[in-house]
Amino acid sequence: SILIVDFGSQVTQLIARRVREAGVYSEIVPFQSAAEAFARINPAAVILSGGPASVVDENSPRIPQAILDSGLPMLGICYGQQALTEQLGGKVEKGDSGEFGEAFITVEGECTLFDGLWATGERHQVWMSHGDKVTALAPGFRVVATSPGAPYAIIANDERRIYAMQFHPEVVHTPDGAKLIANFVRHVAGVSGDWTMAEFRAAKIAEIREQVGEGRVICGLSGGVDSSVAALLIHEAIGDQLTCVFVDGGILRQGEAEQVVSLFRGHYNIPLVHVDAQDLFMDGLAGVTDPEAKRKFIGKTFIDVFEAEAKKIGGAEFLAQGTLYPDVIESVSFTGGPSVTIKSHHNVGGLPARMNMKLVEPLRELFKDEVRVLGRELGLPDVFVGRHPFPGPGLAIRIPGEVTRERCDILRKADAIYLDEIRKAGLYDAIWQAFAVLLPVRSVGVMGDGRTYDSVLALRAVTSVDGMTAQAFDFPGDFLPRVTTRIINEVKGINRVVYDYTSKPPGTIEWE
Ligand code: XMP
Repeated sequence: SILIVDFGSQVTQLIARRVREAGVYSEIVPFQSAAEAFARINPAAVILSGGPASVVDENSPRIPQAILDSGLPMLGICYGQQALTEQLGGKVEKGDSGEFGEAFITVEGECTLFDGLWATGERHQVWMSHGDKVTALAPGFRVVATSPGAPYAIIANDERRIYAMQFHPEVVHTPDGAKLIANFVRHVAGVSGDWTMAEFRAAKIAEIREQVGEGRVICGLSGGVDSSVAALLIHEAIGDQLTCVFVDGGILRQGEAEQVVSLFRGHYNIPLVHVDAQDLFMDGLAGVTDPEAKRKFIGKTFIDVFEAEAKKIGGAEFLAQGTLYPDVIESVSFTGGPSVTIKSHHNVGGLPARMNMKLVEPLRELFKDEVRVLGRELGLPDVFVGRHPFPGPGLAIRIPGEVTRERCDILRKADAIYLDEIRKAGLYDAIWQAFAVLLPVRSVGVMGDGRTYDSVLALRAVTSVDGMTAQAFDFPGDFLPRVTTRIINEVKGINRVVYDYTSKPPGTIEWE
C-alpha cells in the first residue's frame, strides 16, 4: 500500500483517489501520527501532501525521521516538496507573491515519472498553488522540469527514488497529473495495480463491524445514491442492527418515496421507517422566501423528525450518514484562501452532536462516481445507481420564492416530464444533473383563443465531474422545443419554458 502523509491540503483526498485509480490501496494519515502509522502500515512508498504551513516558520510540520531514513520511494507535493528539500539539506524561501492557478512547465530531462508520457523539451499545463519555493536543491537532486515561476517545478533523486513537485498533480487542472501519480505508484514504487472496489467493500465492512460491535445504528435515507449505498453497506456489515428512516417532507421528486420504500423493504428487506411529514414541512415553509432560511428550516425540521423517530426506535448509539468527500470539503477553494460557505448543505450538520451519537460514515473518502461503482458492487439496481444527484432540501430550493404544496405539485409534474424525455432521448447518463426550476415570475401567453398568465419554468442540465464545477448541457436541436411543448400542454400553471445556460462558476448548479 501507499502511505499518504497529510500536511493539511484541501485536496489531499484527491491524491488518495488518484492512487486508487492506479489500482493501489492507500491510507491517509495526518502528519502528527505519520510516524506511528508508518510503522504499523509498512507501506511500499510514501506520498507527502501539500499544506497551508510554511516550512520556513518555526514549528511547522516535518516529515518523520523514520520515513526519511527508510529508503522507501517518496513523492512530495508542494509543501511536501518543500519539507523534503529543507529536511534533506536544501533551501526553501518565502515567496513574496506566490503563484496560483494554471502554469506551464517545461520538461528538462528524463524521469521515471514521465514514462510513456512526457519527453524533454515539451511544455505541459499544471496547477500551481504555493507561496514558498525551493531555492536550492538538496544533495543528490536534479531538476527535471521548470516553469518561469518555479525553477524547481519537478525535482528528482533517482538513486533514493525521491521525486517532488511544486504544483498539484492530483487536481484535474493538471491534465496529466493522474498519470504522473500512476507512474510514481507503478514504476517508482513498483506496486502492481489490482486493488478494486470489492476490496474497499470488504475492508469497510470489517471496519463497520469493528466500530459498531453489538450497537444499533440508524440511517437517514434521502432516496439519493449516497445514503442508499451507505445503508446497504452497513446492512451488509451488521444486518438488522441497522434501521433506516425515510422522511418525506413533500419536497421529493415524483415517485421517489415509493421507489425508496419498495427498494429497501421489498428488494433488500432492510427495516425502514417511512415518515410522512408533509404537513409539518409545508406549514413551516409558508411565507419563507429566503434561500438560506429555507435550507435552515428544512435542515432543522429533518433533524426534529429524525430525532423523534430515533427516540421511538430507541437505543441507537450510532448515526449513519452517506457523507462523501466533496461534502467534507464543501465549498472550498484549493488556492489556499479561507473557505467560505456558499450554501449551507444540511446533510452533514447538526444531528450527531444534538443526539449525542457517534457517526458511521463509510463513504467519507469517496467521490460520487466511486460511490456509484460501490453501489453496483453491492447490487444496487442501475436505475438507482445512475440517478442524478438530488439535494437534501429537494424541490424547495428549486422553487425560488414561497414554497407551497401546489407549487411543489406543479414542479414535480414538469420535472417528471423533463426527465422522461431525457431518458427517452438516451441522454440521462450523459448528464450529471437535470432538473426544472419553477420561477416566481408569471408571463402572458395565448392558448387556444384565451389569454394565459402563468408561471415560467426554467430547465437546467449540466455536465460535471464532481459537482464542484459544471457546464450547461447542449441538447440536440429538437429536444428543448419538444419538452417545452409537452410541459406547457400537460402541466397546468406553466405557460413558458426557458433554458439556463449558466456554468459553475459563476453560477451554482441549484438556483438557491
Ligand atoms: P451547487 O448548487 O452548490 O450544488 O452548485 C452542487 C451539488 O450539490 C447538490 N446540493 C446539495 N446536496 N444537500 C445535498 O445533499 C444540499 O443541501 C445540497 N445543496 C446542493 C446539488 O444538487 C449539486 O449536485
